[in-house]
Amino acid sequence: MVMATDAGRVLARLEERSARERPELDTLNAQGARYTRAAAPRLMLDVGPDVGRLLNTLVRRGRARRVVEIGGSVGYSTIWLADAVADTGGSLVTIEADAGKVAELRRNVADAGFAGMVRIEHGDAAEIVPELPYPFDVVLIDHWKDLYIREFDLVWPRLAAGGVVVADNILEPEATAEQMRAYVEHVRKVPGACSHTLPLGAGVELTIRDHAPEESW
Ligand SMILES: C[S@@+](CC[C@H](N)C(=O)[O-])C[C@H]1O[C@@H](n2cnc3c(N)ncnc32)[C@H](O)[C@@H]1O
Repeated sequence: MVMATDAGRVLARLEERSARERPELDTLNAQGARYTRAAAPRLMLDVGPDVGRLLNTLVRRGRARRVVEIGGSVGYSTIWLADAVADTGGSLVTIEADAGKVAELRRNVADAGFAGMVRIEHGDAAEIVPELPYPFDVVLIDHWKDLYIREFDLVWPRLAAGGVVVADNILEPEATAEQMRAYVEHVRKVPGACSHTLPLGAGVELTIRDHAPEESW
């Protein structure tokens, strides 16, 4: 945690909640992905502080202006992204399918001071992404693991040259390892993509779109 601001205060509160939820989450993950999914409306399932900081750095240092998040939950990763977007003067759209979480997401984003800056979309990412203005500079994919490839394929043609797709939970939990292996295999076959797994948090796959030759150095 780094920010001595309203955003920092909300992130600290959410990190405390996440720590309280951790024992139950570990139990559910050990039982299987469907148990975690059934309990998801009341759990944060956040990316954690290391990935939060990575997202913030990617947007801030990459001067990203058009940022999309798929799977906003109650706003933990949203606030890390929004804090950076406030600095680049860009815009952030977050998509969340669960109505109860959308209400909480809205409250947390407002408490963090980003109400006017974050567009919160309630619904299925597969229906919302095609309606968004693009190209996107940074996209976070962090919703149900069996949908990652579907959403990656929607996002990729809308990604700016040099843009990056970040996918969470590549290395954990074990319950979704098969789906994550399929995702990594998929993105590494895409022409014009450079993709690496970073062992941060639960593991992230960073997939970067090549610049056009004339934009490279
Ligand atoms: C792992 S949580 C997101 C955690 C969040 N990124 C964070 O770090 O705080 C996944 C979220 O994706 C949402 N979700 C699942 N399927 C979705 C879909 N098709 N479109 C949008 N959101 C979806 C779930 O309701 C859940 O809140």
